[in-house]
Amino acid sequence: LPVSLIGAPTDIGAGSRGASMGPEALRVAQIGPILQSHGLEVADRGNLAGPSNPWLPPVDGYRHLAEVTAWNRAVHDAVHAELALGRLPILLGGDHCLGLGSISAVARHCREDGKKLRVLWLDAHADFNTNVLTPSGNLHGMPVACLCGHGPQQLIEIGGQVPAISPKWVRQIGIRSVDAGEKRFVHQMGLEVFDMRFIDEHGMRHAMELALATLDANTHLHVSFDVDFLDPDIAPGVGTTVRGGPSYREAQLCMEMIADTGRLASLDVMELNPALDVRNQTAELAVDLIESLFGKSTLMRDRG
Ligand code: ARG
Ligand code: MN
Ligand code: MN
Ligand code: MN
Repeated sequence: LPVSLIGAPTDIGAGSRGASMGPEALRVAQIGPILQSHGLEVADRGNLAGPSNPWLPPVDGYRHLAEVTAWNRAVHDAVHAELALGRLPILLGGDHCLGLGSISAVARHCREDGKKLRVLWLDAHADFNTNVLTPSGNLHGMPVACLCGHGPQQLIEIGGQVPAISPKWVRQIGIRSVDAGEKRFVHQMGLEVFDMRFIDEHGMRHAMELALATLDANTHLHVSFDVDFLDPDIAPGVGTTVRGGPSYREAQLCMEMIADTGRLASLDVMELNPALDVRNQTAELAVDLIESLFGKSTLMRDRG
């Protein structure tokens, strides 16, 4: 599929400033030309526009709800337009609250196209808070709950159907930080979570085999890659580091196993924060992993 890069330069849902510079850092790390070098057709659609960050405290358990809504509507429309053109959108974040707009658009497209949807959520966090459960009010901790229909009306209805997705369609990988109330809610809703304990005990290979087990020829696979998924020793450039994440090798295997399915149809690259990075190393690492996600491999490999 031809690829479209969509920049969403905002930190409106985050707890620290700087993810708004993520799209440019990924471009500086040559995301477009490097994907092109692997034979992909790449169009850079530039950056979306939206409200600036007023940096205010939460109201009713939500920080910046109006601005988060505006950004997510813009993301939804842009991602849906690329899918309708038969292209593979790559959302360059921006903080992870925008996963809501992106995946709402993907879910709408799948309804229109009669496709089955699977969402792989690569993250240190479950992002399954609500306004009563959240310790921070930051909406980047709530997109998965919103997608499953638990959140403010103006956010949950962005994709035109509530809920946008079923928790059964989601597989979370790399999770190691879940808040107390959020933990109960994840359990109650039956989210399938391959946390770091699982990866320690069974390995990334087995986690990914299970996470990818129910894909078929009619599946649209969406990957939502929060860069804080990675161990902070290799990926310091994020606002919410949690130690004990996947190593470089584990992350590569994760991406390569997704590529091997041949089902990847949309991608978010979120939470990269250049203000906290060291000489753009986290952006360069993200691009390196995205190459593997799009099929870069050491040796010739047989498909299927
Ligand atoms: N669980 C914390 C919160 O809700 C942190 C969420 C971090 N999310 C992220 N996308 N980085 O405030
Ligand atoms: Mn399609
Ligand atoms: Mn995270
Ligand atoms: Mn996240």
